[in-house]
Amino acid sequence: MTVDEKIFDKGLANTIAAESSMSYIDGANGILEYVGIDIDSLARNSTFEESTYLLWNGTLPNQSQLNGLVDDLREEYALPGGVIDLIRTFPTDAAPMHALQTAVASLALHDPEADVNEPGPNVRKSIKLVAKTPAIVAAFDRHRKGLDIIEPDSSLDIASNFLWMLNGEKPTETMGKALDVCLILHADHGTNASTFTSLVVISTLSDMYSSMAAAIGALRGPLHGGANEGVMRMLEEIGSLDKVDAAIEQKLANKDKIMGFGHRVYKAVDPRATYLKTFTKGIAEDTGNQSLYEMSSRIEDIMNEKVGSRGIYPNVDFYSATTYHCLGLDLDLFTPLFAIARMVGWTGHCMEQLADNKLIRPGSAYIGPHGVDYTPISDR
Ligand code: SDX
Repeated sequence: MTVDEKIFDKGLANTIAAESSMSYIDGANGILEYVGIDIDSLARNSTFEESTYLLWNGTLPNQSQLNGLVDDLREEYALPGGVIDLIRTFPTDAAPMHALQTAVASLALHDPEADVNEPGPNVRKSIKLVAKTPAIVAAFDRHRKGLDIIEPDSSLDIASNFLWMLNGEKPTETMGKALDVCLILHADHGTNASTFTSLVVISTLSDMYSSMAAAIGALRGPLHGGANEGVMRMLEEIGSLDKVDAAIEQKLANKDKIMGFGHRVYKAVDPRATYLKTFTKGIAEDTGNQSLYEMSSRIEDIMNEKVGSRGIYPNVDFYSATTYHCLGLDLDLFTPLFAIARMVGWTGHCMEQLADNKLIRPGSAYIGPHGVDYTPISDR
C-alpha cells in the first residue's frame, strides 16, 4: 500500500530506521558482532565492562582506558537516598519491571544534568544508568522480601556486585563469571523493539532517563525481553522430560507461540543461543538442574523437526532462562536482568542518534471515513 509515495511496512519488518556501528546482525547465517568482533569471541574473552567500552567507543580499550571506565562505573554504583526511599514505598507485590521502570525514571530527579543533551553529560548519564540499574533491581527484590537493602561493593564488577546486593553474600567466581557472560550476550542487538523505543524518545530531544524508562516498558513484553520468563514458566508447567513431546506438540497444534523461539531477524539459530546452550549445560550440571537442560534440549529437537524449515529456531531467551534459574534468580527477575545488560545498548544507540539526530515520526495510512457530518448529541 502506498500513501503519498510512502510504503506501509507493518511492524517495520522491512524498514531500516537507523545507521549504527554497534551491532552487526546477519540473520540468514546467525552471525552477531559487536563493532566487528564476533559475539562468541567476546563471550569467551571479554568482560561486560570491556564490551561496554567497545560498544560505546567503537574500539576495545587499552588497560588504562578500561580502568577508567571501571572506576567511573564503580563510583556510581550507589543509589541516591531519595531513590531508595522511593523503592521502599513500592508495593511488595509489584512487578519488578514496573519497579525498575519507575525507579529509573526517578533518577532524573536527582541529576542536575538530566536535561543537558550534550555528549559529555550523556556519557555521564549512561554511566550512571548502567551502574545503578543493578542496584535498583536488587534493592526492590530485598524490599519486597522484607530484607535489608544491601549497599553496593565497589571492589566487585557489575555482575558480582549485583549478586552480592541481591543475596547478601559474595558469589563464587564461577557464578560471577557466568552472569558476566550473560550480560555480554545481552548488551546490544541493533534496533530491536526496546532500542527503537529509546531512539523515538531521544529523537524528540527528550532526555536519557525518559528514554530508558520507555525502553524498559518495551522490553517487558513477552514477545521481546519478557520471553525468558515465559520459557521458565513453560518448563515448570511441563514439569518433566517425559511430558515434553506431548506438551510441545499440543502447543504447536494450538498455534501457541513457543517462548524462546523465533526471531524477527534470525532465520538461523541465534548465535547467543548457540553459546548459551553449551554454557547452560555446564551450569545446570554444576547446580543439579540437568533435567531443565535435558527438557530444553528435547524441546529444541522437536522444534527443529517441526518448524526449523520455517526459520523458527531458539533465540537468546531460550537457554538464558535455565542459566538464570541455575544462578538462583527468581523467575520475575529474568527480564530485569536483561534490562541491566541492555542499558548499555540503549544508551549507546541514543548517543549515536543524538550525534546525527532527526525526529522519528513515521506516516500512517488513514483508513477511516471522510465527509462525516457532526450530529448533535440530542440526535444520537
Ligand atoms: C528478543 O529483535 C531483537 O533483536 C530482540 C532480541 C534482542 O536481543 O533484543 O533478540 C531479544 O526479543 C528475542 C525474541 C524473544 N521472543 C520470543 O521468544 C517470543 C516468541 N517468538 C515469537 O513471538 C516471534 O518469533 C517474534 C515476535 C520473536 C518474531 O515474530 P515476527 O518476526 O513478528 O514473526 P511472526 O510472529 O509473524 O511469525 C511468523 C510465523 C507465524 O506463523 P504464521 O502466522 O505465518 O502461520 O512464524 C510463527 C508465527 O506463528 N512463529 C512461531 C514462533 N515464532 C514465530 N510459531 C511458534 N512459536 C514461535 N515462537
